[in-house]
Amino acid sequence: MLLCCLIWIVTIKKGVFGVNGDEVKSVSVMEGDSVTLHTHLTHIQRQDQILWMFGPRIAEIYKEIIDMFDSRKTFGDRLKLNNQTGSLTITNIRTEHTGLYKLQIRSYRGDSDKIFNVTVYARLPVPVIIRNSSQCSSSLEKCVLLCSVMNVTHVSLSWYKGNSLLSSISVSDLNIRLSLPLEVEYQDTNTYRCVVNNPITNHTQHLNLNDVCQLCSGSVELHSHLKRLTPSLVYALVGVTATALLVYYFRSKQEPKIKTPV
Ligand SMILES: *[C@@H]1O[C@H](CO)[C@@H](O)[C@H](O)[C@H]1NC(C)=O
Ligand SMILES: *[C@@H]1O[C@H](CO)[C@@H](O)[C@H](O)[C@H]1NC(C)=O
Ligand SMILES: *[C@@H]1O[C@H](CO)[C@@H](O)[C@H](O)[C@H]1NC(C)=O
Ligand SMILES: *[C@@H]1O[C@H](CO)[C@@H](O)[C@H](O)[C@H]1NC(C)=O
Ligand SMILES: *[C@@H]1O[C@H](CO)[C@@H](O)[C@H](O)[C@H]1NC(C)=O
Repeated sequence: MLLCCLIWIVTIKKGVFGVNGDEVKSVSVMEGDSVTLHTHLTHIQRQDQILWMFGPRIAEIYKEIIDMFDSRKTFGDRLKLNNQTGSLTITNIRTEHTGLYKLQIRSYRGDSDKIFNVTVYARLPVPVIIRNSSQCSSSLEKCVLLCSVMNVTHVSLSWYKGNSLLSSISVSDLNIRLSLPLEVEYQDTNTYRCVVNNPITNHTQHLNLNDVCQLCSGSVELHSHLKRLTPSLVYALVGVTATALLVYYFRSKQEPKIKTPV
């Protein structure tokens, strides 16, 4: 009789709480923000034991006593345990707090285990647009630009022309410098922007073609010299032509006079 009831209780527990297939909940959070991992209990009982682990145990509440363990000193004073719900809050979270947080609830109403897969995304830098200067002298019609971000992980970098995606690159490892090229013509009047994003945030840099894509310094000098020279050249040419015409006119008039005496 006792054995029968024991088997019945164990079966019920397995069915309801899925002891073997722990539920994994994914949580994405931005570095510096706070996150709360919820037990979804509204009011814990005196006999309930709630245990949080991040590798080793980090927090426990049992018989209304809260214990915080931070043997590896990874959290400092960032952890808070709610004494009503047993939910765990991590304030000012850092990227090194990325990982699996295990929750164990031991209660007369039933046990349950949960896993929170927490991913902390670093703050994104604003992308920088520069020209690939070594390309300068070789191409006078096209300008090759690079959009770059420094020290990033888990990001995509993309070029947009208007609202359409032109090109994109994604990385999951740490990149000291991630760059994506774009080739434009000097006369191009479209709007271009470079966007860096991770799953929860993004930053945009708009391209100002006139600022970034000036002609190469050599060509710029030649260009501006020509510009400065052009008006005086025109005046000079007009002057020379007019003088020549006048000279020609007077000569042709004088010629008969000179010839007559001979
Ligand atoms: C729970 O914590 C709040 C403050 O966070 C405190 O005021 C309250 O007395 C605590 N309750 C118990 C039962 O410890
Ligand atoms: C946790 O999430 C990361 C990325 O979001 C994933 O690669 C990893 O497989 C997940 N781990 C578990 C145990 O679900
Ligand atoms: C930038 O310039 C270097 C040197 O000329 C060249 O090797 C490289 O391919 C260029 N990058 C792009 C994206 O055009
Ligand atoms: C990138 O990281 C390196 C090494 O941590 C650091 O020296 C450098 O200043 C960082 N650069 C930027 C732009 O954050
Ligand atoms: C950037 O984030 C904003 C919201 O902050 C969103 O509306 C937009 O679609 C995102 N853009 C990209 C390219 O991910």
